[in-house]
Amino acid sequence: HKTPKKIGQGAADVNIALSKYWGKRQVELNLPTNSSLSISLPGLGTHTKIQADKTLQHDCVCLNGKRLKQDDPFAMRLSKFLDFFRETPNTFFDIHTENTVPTAAGLASSASGYAALVLALNDCFDWQLPKKELSLLARLGSGSASRSIYDGFVIWHKGQTENGLDSFAEPIDAPWSEFCIGLLEIDLKAKKVASTTGMQQTVNHCELYQAWPKKAEQDVQAIQQAILQQDFSELGALAENNALSMHATMIATWPPILYWQPESVEAMHMVWALRESGVEVYFTMDAGPNLKLMFLQKDAERIQQAFPALKLIRPFG
Ligand code: PMV
Repeated sequence: HKTPKKIGQGAADVNIALSKYWGKRQVELNLPTNSSLSISLPGLGTHTKIQADKTLQHDCVCLNGKRLKQDDPFAMRLSKFLDFFRETPNTFFDIHTENTVPTAAGLASSASGYAALVLALNDCFDWQLPKKELSLLARLGSGSASRSIYDGFVIWHKGQTENGLDSFAEPIDAPWSEFCIGLLEIDLKAKKVASTTGMQQTVNHCELYQAWPKKAEQDVQAIQQAILQQDFSELGALAENNALSMHATMIATWPPILYWQPESVEAMHMVWALRESGVEVYFTMDAGPNLKLMFLQKDAERIQQAFPALKLIRPFG
């Protein structure tokens, strides 16, 4: 611990996994059963300011300009995470955090949230930590946050140790200017089953899950290859199949977990119809009903016509 400077600041973008993190081998430390691979979305994320304050009686959390109650689940999760970083048990923090994505709508706001918070802590305490270590700390807040420390394509290595010191993310240095992501917002309400709950239920009560860790590990390797070779057809097919395989394990757990809405399924059929007509577009989905489309810049106009509400993002644009 160094003496904290007055206000620390941090900003991070959300990321979308092309090969998913689904399942924890250790819950407390957010140690995953499998590695994962993502793309960060510039301009969509979180900005956080933090200040350690010895006069406070408890942490004060402001989310998007609104002061949260102490027993608000979002504030409680944040305080539990901040317990790792208090100078004394009675040092509390004043936190102001702004999201440019809807909170808990399957758009991974917890990923940018915990990455931004760790960057703000790094600034506040002047730790000057390397990114690898910031990634490791962000992982403790939310697994996918380990990937939001970086721009572009990112791999989170699952690691093998019990203490998790080898479970962190690293960037893949392979900018791909043609590569586009489209956000198709089906329903922006907060999700009903939190990802940790969903993962635990799947790990413990789904026979199909046995097959997942091996497949996920193979997909990470194959998608990395496709990125390095800029083989879009390969990347799209692998990523869509990976997402559907993850959802298959959720559907096959008991009680079942289905994040999809009828409109999600309708959108999947539209994507498949577009592909049949020769437009190369693929989708991925996380713990929510929204679709994230993958396509190349040359097809952006056709895809935007088919999905007028699509939010277009060019990760390397
Ligand atoms: O980081 P968490 O605990 O919110 O879990 C994220 C899980 C998925 O979004 C479904 C997959 C992923 O790799 O981002």
